[in-house]
Amino acid sequence: MNQPQTYDAIILGGGAAGLMCAAVAGQRGARVLLVDHAPEVGRKILISGGGRCNFTNVGAAAERYLSANPHFAKSALGRYRPADFIELVDRYGIGWHEKTLGQLFCDGSARQIVAMLLEECAAGGVSYALGQAVEAVAHADGRFRVDVGGRAFAAPALVLATGGPSIPKLGATDFAYGVARQFGLKIVQPRPALVPLTLPGEEALFRELSGVAADVVARAGGAAFREAALFTHRGLSGPAILQISSYWQPGEAIAVDFLPDAAPGWLLAAKRERPRAALRSALAEMLPQRLADVLAERLGIGELHGAKDAALQAAERRLGDWAFRPNGTEGFAKAEVTVGGIATDGLSQRTMEAKRVPGLYCIGEAVDVTGWLGGYNFQWAWASGFAAGEAI
Ligand code: FDA
Repeated sequence: MNQPQTYDAIILGGGAAGLMCAAVAGQRGARVLLVDHAPEVGRKILISGGGRCNFTNVGAAAERYLSANPHFAKSALGRYRPADFIELVDRYGIGWHEKTLGQLFCDGSARQIVAMLLEECAAGGVSYALGQAVEAVAHADGRFRVDVGGRAFAAPALVLATGGPSIPKLGATDFAYGVARQFGLKIVQPRPALVPLTLPGEEALFRELSGVAADVVARAGGAAFREAALFTHRGLSGPAILQISSYWQPGEAIAVDFLPDAAPGWLLAAKRERPRAALRSALAEMLPQRLADVLAERLGIGELHGAKDAALQAAERRLGDWAFRPNGTEGFAKAEVTVGGIATDGLSQRTMEAKRVPGLYCIGEAVDVTGWLGGYNFQWAWASGFAAGEAI
């Protein structure tokens, strides 16, 4: 093979984090090569947020990220904030709006975000090697060598930005973990997150509710989210469930409060006021009728006057703390992100550089930092990409 073509930095992965890192490093004068096995960069950006890219969340802070080291993300998130990305988006004249809960979306299309990042890379003179597999990564004499599609490249800095294994059909792989292990970094067990949960056969009654949604509080692993839950033909989905899936561990139950706004004692009060009313009708004032029917059937209560007060009190408690025992998730095929990944204890929280391998950087979803639903994961990609881009 010919002598490798040399750069100052080779970035593996042209997703959100890799593009940001390439643009920042390039604009600081580094000669950057961005490598991706996909023929086009930023595929997940293009499909994100229903095609409108929920590009950040104004509430992004380390407490809203999961990691074996909950403090790790603070430094990078503190130095590249949502306001910094908004400033970039504004500079490009891209219209945006806040949808809910601090989530910012493009008014137009996610394509605008990819186009913006590509222009930023062009301003930094970034080169590309796209559409071919990475064949080998090696390290000798302070230089990294990467073989791609029969060509060899070398640089003193290598950035791992190939993301996590969520949604393989979009080109996602666990490549970053293999390279990280090759360089002695540890991996925190990856698992699908922001993912629908599946329910076992004995919960079949709820499967009949496929398509029904309700505003609930979902709880698991010490976390609680108030958002919509959606019943599916396989189990549970919707934002509240996707959020709680990141905290759920196999074998555990999740608790759902179906009536987060109901005043304590509401069911006894309903019995006093309308003893002839059926539980399903009382519930249907606050919940979709089909859900009210299934819950009343499960509770085995018909007309309120026919139930003892103690039974109604127990029913009220259960409606506020309904236990579902998922038998799994819909897996990496449907997971928006991956919890776990390259362990942060081997990385500098300031620069994302491997402590024991100078010149090796890990950024984005490949790292064991996972955000809530709602723009947090892109903010981590931008912030970690910026941190490494400034350090190269
Ligand atoms: P990302 O996955 O973006 O990029 C990795 C790149 O590496 C890809 O271009 C891939 O082709 C490449 N690659 C992988 N393996 C390789 C290999 N072996 N060799 C070479 N290249 C390789 N987040 C958010 O904040 N707001 C949102 O609206 C959404 N919406 C959303 C929708 C859907 C359907 C999904 C699946 C995910 C989201 N997310 C999201 C999450 C968000 O997309 C995700 O966290 C970021 O894209 C992660 O950025 P990275 O750059 O780390 O990885």
